[in-house]
Amino acid sequence: MSEPTPAVDALSRRKFFSGSAVLAGAGGLALGVGGGMAVAAAAAPGPLSDSERMAERATLTYPFYGEHQGGIDTPPQDHLVFTAFDVTALTAVELQLVLAKWSAAMAEMTAGSPVGKVQPEREQGIPVDTGEATDMGPQGLTLTLGFGPSLFDERFGLAKFKPADFADLPAMAGESLNPALTGGDLCIQACANDPQVAYHAVRNLARMARTAVKTRWTVLGFGRASAGANQATPRNLMGFKDGTRNVSGTTDLGEHVWAGAEAGQPWMVGGSYLVARKIHMLIETWDEDPIGDQQSIFGRTKKEGAPLSGSKEHDVPDFHAAAAGAPVIPADSHIALAAHENNNGTKILRRGYNFTDGLDSVGRLDAGLMFLSFQKSPEQFVTLQRKLGSSDRLNEYIRHVGSGVFAVPAGLPAAGSYYGKEFFA
Ligand code: HEM
Repeated sequence: MSEPTPAVDALSRRKFFSGSAVLAGAGGLALGVGGGMAVAAAAAPGPLSDSERMAERATLTYPFYGEHQGGIDTPPQDHLVFTAFDVTALTAVELQLVLAKWSAAMAEMTAGSPVGKVQPEREQGIPVDTGEATDMGPQGLTLTLGFGPSLFDERFGLAKFKPADFADLPAMAGESLNPALTGGDLCIQACANDPQVAYHAVRNLARMARTAVKTRWTVLGFGRASAGANQATPRNLMGFKDGTRNVSGTTDLGEHVWAGAEAGQPWMVGGSYLVARKIHMLIETWDEDPIGDQQSIFGRTKKEGAPLSGSKEHDVPDFHAAAAGAPVIPADSHIALAAHENNNGTKILRRGYNFTDGLDSVGRLDAGLMFLSFQKSPEQFVTLQRKLGSSDRLNEYIRHVGSGVFAVPAGLPAAGSYYGKEFFA
């Protein structure tokens, strides 16, 4: 994923002074910079005003074309719309058309453009784009497309394109999956700094394909529960910082996240596997649990987010530290069970979001974590979840209710290419 490109008019004073703004390719901007340099150099940069910060967020743009799809190693945006679809089309040609149309529309929306006319000239003309994101800017929108294992069944003749060992996740302890929140032939993960922009993108993709795909399940997420490069760690709905020790950096991504030749499918080289788990939290019960117990369940302090063996959030957990003959970080705590040190080096890139669906039928909070992780192989997730599902003390407070696994193809090279093109050659 390449660097984001803030639009020229949102070039922030901060970036101007730090020299990190993208000046090349900014056309006439070079002139402006030359002319304004003396004035700018005399003024102190100062903190961004609220309106400058909003403008910067609104115009943040991630390139659509590139080696990898956006929304994987992109610093997590604030909002999510995740939707899994069933393909109802009867022919491979119809599916091909959907993928080609989606790819072109994704490129447009990622750049902050509508997918067609919002206000047609003719009185009776039906707008191509539904219009609710008009003038809102790209808002850092990324759209990530995945193929579910069921897409490769007999319907479209795609079996030979199925990556080796790509299958539905096995049944695991600690889950009570609802079939209506599970599976899908296709998925789209839309992430943006504004919820309406993310919603608009999925709505318009679903709309333009409505004769060929049907929405299967959707989760709206907020308050990301994962941190990216240089981002402060957000908190999940249990009040703990979530995303402190995550995969980051090129080496980690290459080793643990990007798929390579092992998938046996050229279209997956540079792609990844997305695991989506809708995890319901028993919040009322959690809220009655004393802080000492909450901290030993995660193996971290609540306020700072430090491992119980340290004092600062980013201290490396010491799973051998002991006091009074017992491990300082309990062996059945969430981090002790999930850490790569205790799983033969297994790591996954977590990129989840909090969700709430209001109240359930008996008035309890219906909320939790839309857990999303990217990995080179779904087996990495299965290894960790098998362990967490059977031994994690957190299980008393959570239920996995939705699930999906998707093969996320590599990024597209340039306009004119589309996801799945190889399937229809
Ligand atoms: C509602 C469910 C979950 C909650 C509330 C939760 C919360 C947390 C928290 C607070 C941390 C510590 C901070 C951090 O390093 O990010 C953490 C770490 C971690 N979690 Fe979860 N998590 C959940 C589910 C899962 C699942 C399903 C998996 C994978 C199967 C997972 C894998 C991990 C990993 C790998 C770490 C890092 C451990 C380390 O290296 O220290 N989590 N989680």
